[in-house]
Amino acid sequence: MTASMDENILEVKHMTITLYEGGTSYKMVNRISFTVGKGEIVGIVGESGCGKSMTALALQDLLKNHIKVTDGSMIFDGKDLRTISAAERREINGNDMTMIFQEPMTSLNPLQRIGTQVGEVLLLHGSHSREEIEKRTLEALQMVGLPDPEKAMRMYPHELSGGMRQRVMIAMGIIARPKLLIADEPTTALDVTTQAHVLELLQEVNRQTGTAVLLISHDLGVINKICSRVLVMYAGKIVEQGRTEDILKNPVHPYTQGLISSIPTRRMKGAPLASIPGRVPPVTEEKPPCPFASRCESADKLCFTEYPGRKTISDEHILWCHHYGTNAE
Ligand SMILES: Nc1ncnc2c1ncn2[C@@H]1O[C@H](COP(=O)(O)OP(=O)(O)OP(=O)(O)O)[C@@H](O)[C@H]1O
Ligand SMILES: [Mg+2]
Repeated sequence: MTASMDENILEVKHMTITLYEGGTSYKMVNRISFTVGKGEIVGIVGESGCGKSMTALALQDLLKNHIKVTDGSMIFDGKDLRTISAAERREINGNDMTMIFQEPMTSLNPLQRIGTQVGEVLLLHGSHSREEIEKRTLEALQMVGLPDPEKAMRMYPHELSGGMRQRVMIAMGIIARPKLLIADEPTTALDVTTQAHVLELLQEVNRQTGTAVLLISHDLGVINKICSRVLVMYAGKIVEQGRTEDILKNPVHPYTQGLISSIPTRRMKGAPLASIPGRVPPVTEEKPPCPFASRCESADKLCFTEYPGRKTISDEHILWCHHYGTNAE
C-alpha cells in the first residue's frame, strides 16, 4: 500500500509469530502486512483459531514466553515496536495504544470500585493530580454512556450488567486518549442489543476523539457495522482485504465468500445457517501453500503446491488466491 506513516498510526509488515513447543517451532501468524490509518476503524475477521488474538497480543507485547514475533516489523506512531526499549514500550502500552477484551468480568478487579479502576489507568502514566484523575474518570464514564457516572464510580463490577461492565472497560481503554484502541471480540459475550450499543459507542468514541480502532471479530456482521476496511484472516494469513463494502459486495476469496454466507442476518428465514465445511487446522498441523486449500471447493493441484501471489482487484481490494485472474504476480 502507498499510504505513508503520516497517515498511518500502525504499519505491520511481514509480521510472523512463532510458537515454540517440544523442540519444534510452528508459525501461528505467517508474514501478515496491514495498516491502520490515523483515526480509522479497521476490522480483522476470521474463524476461531485463525491468529487474530495472537496478532493483537503481539502488538501489545503480551505474548507468552514460548510465543515470539520472529519476523517483520510493527511500526506504531513512527516507532518499530520490535526494537524500542522496555521504557518506550511501557510508555505506549495502556497510554497511546490500549486494548479491550471479550470478557470484562475477568479483566476487572471485583474488589475495587469502578472509579478507582478507571482512574488507575492515568496513575500509571504521567503525573495527574487527584482532581484531574477524578474529572477525567467522570468524563470517560460519561462518554461511554453509564447512566449515572457519579454513582457508577462508587460501585463494584458485580453491581453492573455485562454491557455496563464492557462500557467500563471501554472507559479504561479511552481515558488516556490513545491513538489506537485494539478491541478483541469486545461484543462476543453480549446479547445482540447490547452488542449493537457497544459497537455504536466504539464508533462514537472514534468520531469524537479520533482514536483509531482495530476491531477483532469472528463475525463479519459486527465488522460491517463500524469498520471502513477489513482484513480477512485464515490460519495465520491474511487471505483478502479491502474496504468493507467492497468485500461484502464482491467477496472474491472462497473463504470470504464462506464467511459471508454464514452471517446470520443474511440467512433466509427458516433456512439453516450456512457454514464452511471442515475446520481451521491447528497451528501444529502442516498447511499447504494456500492455507485454505484443504477446505476449498475450488482447490486444485496448484493450491497444494504453490503459494498464491497477491492479486489486486482495486486499489484497496487485494487477495491471495490462485483462482482469481490468470497470472499470479
Ligand atoms: N500455547 C499454545 N499452544 C499451541 N497452540 C496455541 C497456543 N496458544 C494459541 N494456540 C493456537 O494458536 C492459534 C491462533 O490462536 P488465536 O488465539 O490467535 O486465534 P483467534 O483467531 O483469536 O481465535 P478466537 O476467535 O477463538 O479468539 C489457534 O489455533 C490456537 O489454538
Ligand atoms: Mg481470539
